[in-house]
Amino acid sequence: MSISSSRRSRDRDWLPSPIDLSEELRKYIGKQVSYATHGIHRYPAKFIPQIPRFCLESYSRVGDDVLDPFMGSGTTLLESYILGRNSYGVDVHPLARMIAKVKITPLDPAPLDSLASDLLARINADEDDNSAWIPEIPNRDHWFRPEVLADLATIKKHVWGTRKGDHQDFFKICFSSIIRKMSNSDADSLIPEVTSFRKKLDEQGKTSFDSIGRFGNAVRNKLIDVEELWRISQDVEEEYRTVPVVKIIGKDAREIQLDTSEIDLAITSPPYASAVHYVSVHKLEMHWLGLLGDMAKLDGQIVGTSRAYADVYGPWKPKTDIPELRQVLGGLIEKEKKSAYIVYKYFEDMRRNFAEMNRVLKRSGRYCMVAGENTFRKVKIPTYAILARIALRSGFEVKAVYAYDVINRHLDIPRWNNSRIERDHILVFRRKKAPAHDTL
Ligand SMILES: C[S@@+](CC[C@H](N)C(=O)[O-])C[C@H]1O[C@@H](n2cnc3c(N)ncnc32)[C@H](O)[C@@H]1O
Repeated sequence: MSISSSRRSRDRDWLPSPIDLSEELRKYIGKQVSYATHGIHRYPAKFIPQIPRFCLESYSRVGDDVLDPFMGSGTTLLESYILGRNSYGVDVHPLARMIAKVKITPLDPAPLDSLASDLLARINADEDDNSAWIPEIPNRDHWFRPEVLADLATIKKHVWGTRKGDHQDFFKICFSSIIRKMSNSDADSLIPEVTSFRKKLDEQGKTSFDSIGRFGNAVRNKLIDVEELWRISQDVEEEYRTVPVVKIIGKDAREIQLDTSEIDLAITSPPYASAVHYVSVHKLEMHWLGLLGDMAKLDGQIVGTSRAYADVYGPWKPKTDIPELRQVLGGLIEKEKKSAYIVYKYFEDMRRNFAEMNRVLKRSGRYCMVAGENTFRKVKIPTYAILARIALRSGFEVKAVYAYDVINRHLDIPRWNNSRIERDHILVFRRKKAPAHDTL
């Protein structure tokens, strides 16, 4: 992507002037942002593939090793693969790891197509009572109608009856992709919610509860995506004469399972303090997939969690050398100490991530991070600026800043649902020395 038409504008004095990419990025819509398997499943706060692509083209070469420590649905990994880079991903969320795995695994469409036809035929012919396949879901009848529960159970029985492996994972993702649509939840709300608007649509007969038909459509549509990825994978092999490594390597961006100095380039869009409740967004899908173990435990491992306990934040005293963070904490503590602690904890977790990235990146390796501003309890948080300050304290220098307007239509689930994020920055850090601080 060229940045020739970019305009430059002054931002914070101590940061390089941002180069504006809005015009460049505005061009990409519809299929251009969901080609191949990019759109295989919805996921909150995805970035459009053109963002990692821009970073990959600007800061890496074919054969380099690329890491996304907050991988989400795997956008960076798929783009890296297409451009002949090896890539590694880390995410704490089990559904993110499953989506990413399916997204990055090229499958020969012919055998998959025939398995899909057999699977759909078996599902359509099944008239048994399969209620034993309905998982335990708190408030189950609030979320699903009896006929939907029965049909989803039948689909589940047959998908789980296929042989374990890549094909089964593909069918599981197809199954997962229809769960929210088949539930009583409003389709547009970030967190599942049974709204009066949705109830009205149901009463007017404007919603469909044909789960088996929906599943068939999902399988057929996603087969087209898989076919495109397969074609791309043939081109990748031919062009680069090797198959790039694509691997999901762990669960925690604060403790990365890689040796020292292994990575040439890292690209990520990290979570924000209390912005998206990642566990709730996909809780219905996770119940059906059997992925939701201890919900509280998972929530506690999420960077940016709003879970905080009085015995921890009670004795905590806000202390930081970062001026922007001091101001934010001051504003929040006036309202509620817990909120101030949540934000502090978020930035402390991000500091731990920077320390890890310093360790795993090669000398002069780049770390590209997408971040904007958000508001929490009506306090504006210049997240990107605070992250840049933390990066400087963690042994990085800021090599460049790009900025662009975030446009809702690019994303399955808007980024600014709970807290507004309208302009994002791509911060490009370069590893320079060992971290100078181990506190904020
Ligand atoms: C903004 S999303 C990334 C979206 C991704 N760029 C995409 O295109 O799908 C941030 C991700 O960080 C993950 N995350 C939160 N805490 C984490 C942790 N401790 N370690 C690794 N990943 C974490 C969340 O589960 C979420 O998937």
